Parts: sequence; C-alpha cells; structure tokens
Amino acid sequence: MNILGTGLSGLLGTSVVDTLKDNFSFTNLSLETGVDITDKTALEKAIFSSDAPWVFHFAARTDVDQAEKEKDQKEKSSVWLVNVEATDSIASLCNKTGKHMLYISTDYVFSGTKERYTEDDVPDPVGWYAKTKYEGEKRVSRLGNYGLVVRIANPYGPKESGKKDFVHKITHDLKLGMTIKAPSDQLFVPTFIPDIAAAIQLLLHKNACGTYQVVGDEAFSPYQAAKEIARTLHVSNDLVQEARFEEFFEGRASRPFHAVLSNDKIKKLGARMTSFANGLETIFSKEKQ
Ligand SMILES: NC(=O)c1ccc[n+]([C@@H]2O[C@H](COP(=O)([O-])OP(=O)(O)OC[C@H]3O[C@@H](n4cnc5c(N)ncnc54)[C@H](OP(=O)(O)O)[C@@H]3O)[C@@H](O)[C@H]2O)c1
Repeated sequence: MNILGTGLSGLLGTSVVDTLKDNFSFTNLSLETGVDITDKTALEKAIFSSDAPWVFHFAARTDVDQAEKEKDQKEKSSVWLVNVEATDSIASLCNKTGKHMLYISTDYVFSGTKERYTEDDVPDPVGWYAKTKYEGEKRVSRLGNYGLVVRIANPYGPKESGKKDFVHKITHDLKLGMTIKAPSDQLFVPTFIPDIAAAIQLLLHKNACGTYQVVGDEAFSPYQAAKEIARTLHVSNDLVQEARFEEFFEGRASRPFHAVLSNDKIKKLGARMTSFANGLETIFSKEKQ
C-alpha cells in the first residue's frame, strides 16, 4: 500500500518508516522533497496526484518553548500555520480525494491536573504548542470515518534521527560523565516507537477512525526514568540528581504536571506495549552490536 506522509524525516517518522517499510511504500512531503505544507497549492498538487489511500500527517512545529515565544502572534504565528492551518488544508484535501488521514497528536493536549486521561476526556491544553495541536485534532475529527487521531507521548526508540529522543539525550550526557537534573514530582509515560508503528499498522488494517492514545503502560517521573537509563548503562547513579517540576521548568512554557494517558482503547484492539526496561535493553543491546 502506498502512504503519503508529512514529517516522515522527523524523530518519529524516521523510525515508523523504518519499522513499516517492508509492508508500505512511503512518499514524504517535506521541505527537502519540495513541499512546504503551509503552501496549499503544493499540497493540493501532491495529494491530488497520489493514489495513496492514507495520508500520515506527522509534521509539526514541535519545540514547545520556541512555540511559546510566538504565542502573542496567535493565528499569524508559524506554529499555528504549520500545526493548525496546514492540518486543516490536509484534512480538506483528504475529504475532497476520499483519503483517510492519520494525525499524530500529543499527551500535551491535557493540562496534567487529573490522575489519568482517557480518549473521552476533553483536552484542556496549557501551552501554545499544545493548543495548536488540539486545534489540529479538531480539524481531523471533522473527517468522521476518515479521520484518525493518534496521541503519543515521549517516544523513544532504537533508531536515531537528527533530533535525539529523550533516552538518547540523557544517554549522551551520562556517557560524557555529565550530571543531569530531572524532576521527581512530574509524571510522564515513555513510549517505545516500534510499538507506535505496530499500533499504526493495526489501526490501518481496521480502517480505524476517531482518537486512540498509543502510549506505554508505565508512568515514571523523569528522575526515575533517568535513573533507569543510568542503571541500564552501568554508569553511576549519582550522575542523576533530583529537581522539582516548578524550579526545573521555571521561565519556560507551561506543560502538563502529570501526563498519564490510558492506553486501554488501543490495547483492546490487540496492541502490546514494551516495558521501559525492555525498551532500554533493546536499544542498548543493538548499539553494542
Ligand atoms: N517527539 C515527541 O516527544 C512528541 C511527543 C508527542 C507528540 N509528538 C508529535 O509527533 C509528531 C512528530 O514529532 P517529531 O518529534 O517526530 O517531530 P520532529 O522530529 O520535530 O520533526 C518535525 C517534522 O516536521 C516537518 N516539518 C516542519 N515544518 C514543515 C513544513 N512547513 N513543511 C513540511 N514539513 C515540515 C519537518 O521536516 P524537515 O525535517 O524537512 O524540516 C520534520 O520532518 C508531531 O506531530 C508531534 O507534535 C511528538
């Protein structure tokens, strides 16, 4: 099956393509391949001329703190143009051409003030990046049976692209013997990228629509996660130091305090999630080879 995609050269896209390349043939619409997704004419040409039944829309402006600096520009900000306007254009072109659209969203659509979030909870994003991603979700939901929103959180995986995932960032610093600080009161859910790819394949086979949270099974504080990485790497535990959420993110964009999303819905479809310990073992054993 041919798949048309955006953002396939990014952190998530690179690994998803790598995992699914034997089953699907991907065409990436990116600045490198001559398509700026904020250019409606270029998008129209690419989508109208493709026979792909699905469009994977992964591209976004993802720097949360950088996005916050554009907040006052509102709908004129480049974050809005990429995360909302371009999503709206792609949704409208999918509607015109009868294609399914898969949109990647984020745990950041929630404020993180509730214990656990399901797909039935109404998003209440706190930062500008998060608000634009939720606006994107709304555009895709309008496609009804042809719109699929996949919320992910803290993706990490065996394949390194240009942008490092959080595991590779921490690993890089620890291997250099650097001390790292991480909040011990915040909660997040790491998600192994090959599991996201497998869940996407499952959703495609079911012609799924609506919203699915594709996240790992376990919530950690960033401090616990960093300790686990240090343990797996056999470096000194003392390199990981505890911080408080408020002090760690002071002066930066607001983000969810406890971003714990339920994955019950995708697991009922048959998806399986790798534990963080096993995900780390897989990454580091591959890197040793
Ligand atoms: N990484 C995370 O922690 C995380 C967590 C939750 C959700 N997500 C969501 O997952 C998706 C993928 O994230 P990621 O971390 O893989 O992103 P990323 O590494 O930052 O990559 C972003 C991608 O978007 C493309 N892009 C940006 N502006 C574009 C434009 N105007 N025209 C065409 N392409 C453009 C970039 O293409 P070029 O390389 O050609 O510029 C790049 O491939 C995003 O929707 C993000 O919101 C990510």
